[in-house]
Amino acid sequence: AMDPVEAAKRAAAEKAVDEFVRDGMVVGIGSGSTIVYAVHRLAARAKLPEGDPLRISTAVFVPTSFQSRQLLAEAGLTVAELATREVLDVAIDGADEVDKSLNCIKGGGGCQLEEKLVASAARKFVVVADHRKQSERLGTCWTKGVPLEIAPSGYRLAMRLLAAKGATATLRMAKSKAGPVVTDGGHFVVDAHFGGIEDVPAMERWLKAVPGVLETGIFCGMASKAFFGQADGSVVEWA
Ligand code: A5P
Repeated sequence: AMDPVEAAKRAAAEKAVDEFVRDGMVVGIGSGSTIVYAVHRLAARAKLPEGDPLRISTAVFVPTSFQSRQLLAEAGLTVAELATREVLDVAIDGADEVDKSLNCIKGGGGCQLEEKLVASAARKFVVVADHRKQSERLGTCWTKGVPLEIAPSGYRLAMRLLAAKGATATLRMAKSKAGPVVTDGGHFVVDAHFGGIEDVPAMERWLKAVPGVLETGIFCGMASKAFFGQADGSVVEWA
C-alpha cells in the first residue's frame, strides 16, 4: 500500500489537474514531490483514446525548474518556455505552507524564483498539497524559514539585515557536496524564520526590498484555489 502522505499528495494533484487542465491549454508546472503526481496524471490523460473528454493532445507545459522540465520530458509531454509564452492559462504547483487566504510559503525545493514567474504569468494559480501544509498562520507550520533567493555576493549583507529585523537566517547548505545550495539560476538560498507572520503582504514587501533578495518564497494573494489531500483519502479544497 502507498504511504498515506504520498496518497494524499496524489489525490490532491489528480483532482486539481482534472478540474483545471483542458486540452489546448498552456499550463505551468511547479516543482517538488507533489507535482510529480500531477505530471503522471497528465501523462495518463495524454494516452486516453480520442474522443475522451479528459484526453489532452495539444496542451503545452511550462516548467519551473530543471526537475519539472525533466519530469515533463520523461512523461512525453510538450515542454514550452516562459520566455516565449507571455500568458499561461493555469499554473499548478506545490507549496510548503498555505493559509486560509491562500497565501503560501514556497521554495523548500529552492525553485521559488521561476515558480513565482510562472505563477504570475498564469491566469489561475492552483496549489496542490497534503494536509500537513494547511496552516492558520504562515510561519507556524513550515518553520525552516521563508526561502529567499539571494545574489551570492550579497548573502552576508542580507543575513545581517534579516537578523536585525528579528529573523533566524541561515544559508542553505548542500547535502551531498561541500558548500551552499546553488539554484537553477546560479543563486544562493537563505531561509529566514520569523515565527508566525502577522502581516504577510508587509513581510513580503519588506523582504523584497532587501538588497540582493531576488525573490521571496512568500506567494501572497496569488492562488485561486488550493487542494489538500487528507489522511482518509478525501481532498479538502480552499478557495
Ligand atoms: C519548490 O521550490 C517548492 O516551492 C515546492 O513547490 C514546495 O517545496 C512543495 O514541494 P513538495 O510538494 O515536495 O512538498
